Amino acid sequence: MIAIACDHAGVELKNSIIQLLRERGLTYTDFGTNTRESVDYPDYAKAAADAVASGHAERGILICGTGIGMSIAANKVRGIRCALCGDVFSAEAARRHNDSNVLALGARVTGEGLALKITEVWLDTRFDDADDPNGRHRRRIARIEG
Ligand code: RB5
Repeated sequence: MIAIACDHAGVELKNSIIQLLRERGLTYTDFGTNTRESVDYPDYAKAAADAVASGHAERGILICGTGIGMSIAANKVRGIRCALCGDVFSAEAARRHNDSNVLALGARVTGEGLALKITEVWLDTRFDDADDPNGRHRRRIARIEG
């Protein structure tokens, strides 16, 4: 299951990403918001990030105007590795090297087509050390967690 959330700036892009998830047969939980009425992004970031950190969701996708507020807030939740991506190279690396479990997107920065491509690559890319308990990327991530 994918936990997905946005603030008022990200509703349209979130709906496009939900459509992508549906087309791929992926299950999701939508943590809101669903209108353009102004809301506070930390509340939505926390709800989705908590779902990932607790194991209820495998991964999360967060959208706000820039993606910055959502990523800052999500990364305050222990166990969350949220990557703000505005390009496909970073999306791939965020999975291969950082095993990011939450993707943040900026709806006012990244166009819909690119945002969807970023999401696809991020969903499809495996962590390089998935089968290597002694891999360097796994070691580095462990040092972040403390
Ligand atoms: C809302 O105006 C905007 O601040 C928010 O969507 C986001 O960009 C914050 O980081």
